[in-house]
Amino acid sequence: MTAVPDPQDQTVEGCPRHVAIIMDGNGRWATQRGRPRLFGHHAGAKRVREIVEACPGFGVEYLTIFAFSTENWKRTQVEVAGLMTLFRRYITKETRALREKGVRVRFIGARTRLDKKLVKLMQDLEEATAHNTLVNLTIALNYGGRDEVARATKRLAQDVAAGRLDPEKVDEETLPRYLDTYVLPDPDLVIRTSGEARISNFLLWQSAYAEYEFIDTLWPDFTKQEFGCLCTAFGGRDRRFGAVKT
Ligand code: IPE
Ligand code: IPE
Ligand code: MG
Repeated sequence: MTAVPDPQDQTVEGCPRHVAIIMDGNGRWATQRGRPRLFGHHAGAKRVREIVEACPGFGVEYLTIFAFSTENWKRTQVEVAGLMTLFRRYITKETRALREKGVRVRFIGARTRLDKKLVKLMQDLEEATAHNTLVNLTIALNYGGRDEVARATKRLAQDVAAGRLDPEKVDEETLPRYLDTYVLPDPDLVIRTSGEARISNFLLWQSAYAEYEFIDTLWPDFTKQEFGCLCTAFGGRDRRFGAVKT
């Protein structure tokens, strides 16, 4: 990453409107300290508040964070159960602050495999913050881009079968209306921490024209200063969307 001035809390020139983050590296962060992986997940969850609160100052209107993927069920039962407990505790603990700080929270991903208590907490948090407008936080929980497209396609096909949708009229504006993200703009910038340069099934359709930043920092070490630097660097990118500037 090129060195750019620390923008601190000042609005960032050319700031991305929608930033999506793959919060990776919690396990390695814990291992480096000789601690169990869940220790890293707890440290990672603590970082979220600072990053969310930095958004309005920089000019980020939408922040989408990847918390648990449809593939993460492959981890040990201990880790998965620990993460589910962490999500329940996080929502319970953070609801008040999120509501009072003007954060509107939404969840994307399939809710079917999640336990009922967690789903209820997710719905309650969405309702409690539904009138907030300062910043839009979307948490991807049991989310997979392919799963989302498959679920969307199923509903689209049901609408065709029921005569509600004319297949001749299906175009690239149609499918996004069926995606979990239908109310969100596409991400402008996707950040992945921890040094991995892959997107691991995150926002596949929506990120078609996003800019990407793959940074070495492990998620529990990610700060608002680094976030601000990445937003500033985004302002200098030349986004051509396939066209040639004249
Ligand atoms: C990201 O950190 C959090 C989740 C996937 C839930 P990891 O748990 O993937 O951490 P590493 O990649 O093993 O270090
Ligand atoms: C992506 O990280 C999912 C989340 C950050 C929630 P992973 O750690 O699961 O991705 P891979 O397995 O390295 O691709
Ligand atoms: Mg990982």
